[in-house]
Amino acid sequence: MQKRFYVTTAIDYANGSPHLGHAYEKVLTDVLARVRKLRGEDTHFLTGLDEHGQKVQQGAAEEGVEPQARCDRFAREFQALCEKLLVSNDDYVRTTEERHKKVVREVLQRLFDEGQIYKADYSGYYSARAEQFLQEKDKEEGEWPEIYGEVTEITESNYFFKLSQHQDWLIDHLKTNEDFIFPKFRAKQVLEFLKEPLNDLCVSRPVERLSWGIPLPFDEDYVTYVWFDALINYVSAVGYGEDRFTEYWPADAHVIGKDILSPPHAVYWPIMLKAAGIELPKQLLVHGWWMTGGEKMSKSTGEVVDPLELAEKHGPDAFRYFVMREMTVGQDSEFTSELFLTRYNTELGNDLGNLVSRILNMTARYADGIVPAATVDEEPEQELRRTWDETRDPVLEMFDGYQYNFGLEKTFAFVRAINRYVEARAPWQLAKSEDAADAPRLATSLAVLAEALRLANALLAPVMPGINAKINELLGLPPTETWDGALDWGTTLEGNQLGEKTILFPRA
Ligand code: MSP
Repeated sequence: MQKRFYVTTAIDYANGSPHLGHAYEKVLTDVLARVRKLRGEDTHFLTGLDEHGQKVQQGAAEEGVEPQARCDRFAREFQALCEKLLVSNDDYVRTTEERHKKVVREVLQRLFDEGQIYKADYSGYYSARAEQFLQEKDKEEGEWPEIYGEVTEITESNYFFKLSQHQDWLIDHLKTNEDFIFPKFRAKQVLEFLKEPLNDLCVSRPVERLSWGIPLPFDEDYVTYVWFDALINYVSAVGYGEDRFTEYWPADAHVIGKDILSPPHAVYWPIMLKAAGIELPKQLLVHGWWMTGGEKMSKSTGEVVDPLELAEKHGPDAFRYFVMREMTVGQDSEFTSELFLTRYNTELGNDLGNLVSRILNMTARYADGIVPAATVDEEPEQELRRTWDETRDPVLEMFDGYQYNFGLEKTFAFVRAINRYVEARAPWQLAKSEDAADAPRLATSLAVLAEALRLANALLAPVMPGINAKINELLGLPPTETWDGALDWGTTLEGNQLGEKTILFPRA
């Protein structure tokens, strides 16, 4: 069995409804997976839900429901979002599933047996109200802030993972594997963080403080620290410990936001794997944040964009197009409705939507809706074909390099070139012309337009799969499933009956 291209997203916390940030990460990963698929690779795309921990337990208590019931509800919400946004994940892992819990226990046991996990006393300031340990730096003007209530010094026994022992190895790994973290500047930040000595990681919580977690296999009085539990989803979901594991592992990319790079994904995860004797993933693909009013969009800022509402109103493809076109992978972006509507109306509505309408209209009017043969090859045709030649490979390269925004920009430059071709050929004038040479020019222009639209649409397939299917259907074709052959100019659509005039992107 050949190894598949295996890509994952972070698993979302089951303590709030999905917002733009969560939706973006799924779409980004979906586009990446679809690009690999169109390029002919066997891909496996995993996403899921992070269901254990203090916040989930607290949220359920406040609501007066069982934690599992609350998680089930969020699982339905997040999965509905994926479906709505045409996210083509092959699997959805939930950390309360038996398949996951089993692997977490196996990995912990293995680390414990190898002496990588040890028990020790920990003394520190503890806030019972916040149910967390505090540090001197949490004080404000020398006092514990109100929110912590009474703070006492307590000593607690816990289990610790020997992070510090692997620090030099990790630094070396990051320095010798330059592509391990994309974009590169983020690796520098991690190396900066690693200049300070690492503390060993507390990987347990006493059951009396936190019961909503996976019991440690070697001491049932404790549950597993939620990050230790959550990270293991990447291997538990693809059958760690079973034969099939090698079909997937190592993962090709873990797609995550910048807030969870360091330390969880860039420090804990590689060290956990190394210590357990598991190969490291090939890459961490780190995206930036969607912001509103200059702040990270999150549940607590209040101002969240409901991705479902946008997708409901303008279609999932428009949503996907916007987030991929607007954000440079790795950088932050401000979300505003104005920006969304501008791109929607000008790029999708005017440039692409109108082009499709015109092609359908003119072919219906001048050729009974049937694509004629192209028999003429003059300057306007040659110019458009040249533009295509200068579009195709650069766009593929940009997509491979996660530069989706530039790839889309270039694809839309080609869409505008098709619009210029319409103006240059002016089929409505050719139709009126008495010159016999103009009849084949008219027929050719219709054929060339259909072909150029087919090509642009094929490039848009990973970003707008729904629109891709629709436009291809209008051209009398199935959806673009592979790029093999589909990006070559010259597939003749001659004889295809085009669909009825439709408005793909009604003005908003
Ligand atoms: N449960 C952890 C991840 C565990 S992975 C083993 C978690 N969950 S989260 O729900 O808070 O975030 C899930 C993902 O959404 C993260 O990658 C995070 O960076 C991303 N986003 C959350 N808010 C975001 C924005 N405002 N913008 C872009 N993505 C951000 O962290």
